[in-house]
Amino acid sequence: MDEDTSGAGPAGAVGGDSSRPWQTLASGFEQARAREDSLDRLVEWPAQRALLGDVTGLAVLDAGCGNGAKIAQLAGDGAAASVGVDISGNFIAPPPRVELLEGDLSDLAAVPGLAGRRFDRILFLQSFGYAADPVRALQTAREMLTEDGFILLTRTQPVRYAIERSEQKGTSLGEEYFATESFAYRHRNWDEQVTLTKRPYTMSDLLNTFSAAGLWIEAAVEPQMPAEAAERYPHKQAVMDKYLGILMFKLRPLPGLQPRRDATVVG
Ligand SMILES: C[S@@+](CC[C@H](N)C(=O)[O-])C[C@H]1O[C@@H](n2cnc3c(N)ncnc32)[C@H](O)[C@@H]1O
Repeated sequence: MDEDTSGAGPAGAVGGDSSRPWQTLASGFEQARAREDSLDRLVEWPAQRALLGDVTGLAVLDAGCGNGAKIAQLAGDGAAASVGVDISGNFIAPPPRVELLEGDLSDLAAVPGLAGRRFDRILFLQSFGYAADPVRALQTAREMLTEDGFILLTRTQPVRYAIERSEQKGTSLGEEYFATESFAYRHRNWDEQVTLTKRPYTMSDLLNTFSAAGLWIEAAVEPQMPAEAAERYPHKQAVMDKYLGILMFKLRPLPGLQPRRDATVVG
């Protein structure tokens, strides 16, 4: 789902977006995502699924999996092991071969049940912004990859928040894009009572985080709405036209930083 529909912790939270509001927001964002005109259904999930390719026989970990519907679908598509982790603990009843675990994506290796396991695909779909320490979270995920494994990470285009804040405050786009102070945020489609905090980031911040975590970008994608969907849902095309949508990255360990071989692949 679009990370604009996501939230973070109380203003001033140290180290990034805290996760406390998620227990409250879980049902609201799942309802928003389930709408037939949600950007997750129209743009994001089709593009995420295309980047993942054939998952037959693979071990997949979805970090910040929401209610687990996406990882359940990957199990249905043939993944041999499918694990979802989310702080909210608001899960669907897991189908066969799917494990849904309550835990923090900031340190995946510390989530009970994940120590020593390896995955062919690790997903951070609109969830990476909630890691307490983004570089550390990615380093840990990198070490949990199999030799040919990759991370699929998606984040909202940072300019989106800059546009919103510049309109609210009457400031310029550049002032807000380069701002560093965390800002309060409410999502009207989820639960207007919950005030969230977001940590601003620029494109450079994002790219430097990948480098610092020992990852290189094999592919970057900025998915757009298919023409047929744009015609059917012009109000959503208008959102895409104004805010650009999300960024998707296929990330692999930098050569020379091979995953440890002292653990077995999840089965
Ligand atoms: C915007 S939703 C994205 C859900 C799903 N990945 C998707 O693509 O639709 C963000 C998810 O991250 C979860 N989350 C937030 N902070 C987290 C944390 N520290 N550890 C694990 N999950 C977290 C939330 O509960 C929520 O399910």
